[in-house]
Formats: sequence, C-alpha cells, structure tokens
Amino acid sequence: MHFEIKQIGTIYSPFKKMEEAPIQPRFSDKPGKIEVFPEYKEGLKDLEGFSHIILLYYFHLAKEEQLIIRPFMEPDKPKGIFATRYNKRPNKIGLSICEIDKIENNIIYVKYIDVLDQTPLIDIKPLVPLFDFRNIEKIKVGWLSNKKERPKQ
Ligand SMILES: C[S@@+](CC[C@H](N)C(=O)[O-])C[C@H]1O[C@@H](n2cnc3c(N)ncnc32)[C@H](O)[C@@H]1O
Repeated sequence: MHFEIKQIGTIYSPFKKMEEAPIQPRFSDKPGKIEVFPEYKEGLKDLEGFSHIILLYYFHLAKEEQLIIRPFMEPDKPKGIFATRYNKRPNKIGLSICEIDKIENNIIYVKYIDVLDQTPLIDIKPLVPLFDFRNIEKIKVGWLSNKKERPKQ
C-alpha cells in the first residue's frame, strides 16, 4: 500500500542545522512553537487539560534511508533502524513527547523541543499514561538499558 499524508502544521524551533538539534526533548533546554494550520484549529478543542503531547512529524531534511545505523548513544555498535529513533528511517516519521507551556489560538507552545525549525507536523495526540503504560516498571529498553545520560553530540 502507498499512503499520502498531509501536513497539518509546522514546528518552529531555534535549531536551524542538523548538528544543533538535541537528540530528544529530554536533552533539550529550548522551547518550540507548534503552528496548527487554521483549517485544523477546531481539533485542538479540549487539549488544554493535558500536560504533554505526542508530536508526529516528517524528518523533512533526512536524506537516504538506512536499515543499519550508528546511533548517537552508541556509535561504535551499529544497530537496526527500528531499534533506534534515528531520522533516516524508511518513512522518516519522527515522534517527540513534549510538555505544553500554553495554547493560544492555533499555536501550541512547548517547553522543550528537539526538532529542526520548520519541520512539517503530521499529527498531535495527548500523552495518556493509562493508555500507554501497563506496568511502567517492567518496560525494557534493550541496548539502551545502561544509558543514563545524554550523549556527547
Ligand atoms: C535521533 S532523532 C530523534 C527525534 C525524535 N524525538 C524521535 O524519537 O523520533 C533526533 C535528530 O533528528 C534530527 N532532526 C530533527 N528534525 C529533523 C528534520 N526535520 N529532518 C531531519 N532530521 C531532523 C536532528 O539532528 C536530531 O538530533
């Protein structure tokens, strides 16, 4: 099957170049601004009660896809792309869980962002621990299990 996905907005951040962006929101200290295009603004109704959102977006500046990559957290040990969050994926879809600062009209301000400026937004979903985690203490993180800190980029 082949899909078409439409852009529903744009993510703005202070990061203009690939090497400037942190690898995850958890390692970012910079805020971001999510513009939802006016025709989708109605869909933001009731989002204000949530503290965190899941952003899905298109890694529009990722070049060729790779199935084996060298991740930032362990560059000397290549990994399969689906065991990582790397950007050169077959569908180039990125995901960031972000803390909402405020929502004004069709703009969501988030406290910390990890994506490049002008990244095309695909979807927004609320983070709901009840839905997403059955036994959080039993979650296993594979090759990342001994990682405690942000990597040097
Ligand atoms: C490892 S990826 C992870 C991003 C996301 N939080 C995830 O888990 O899907 C983060 C890196 O992707 C790159 N990146 C961010 N926005 C991008 C974009 N629009 N196009 C291509 N690469 C991007 C940056 O270099 C950043 O350091």
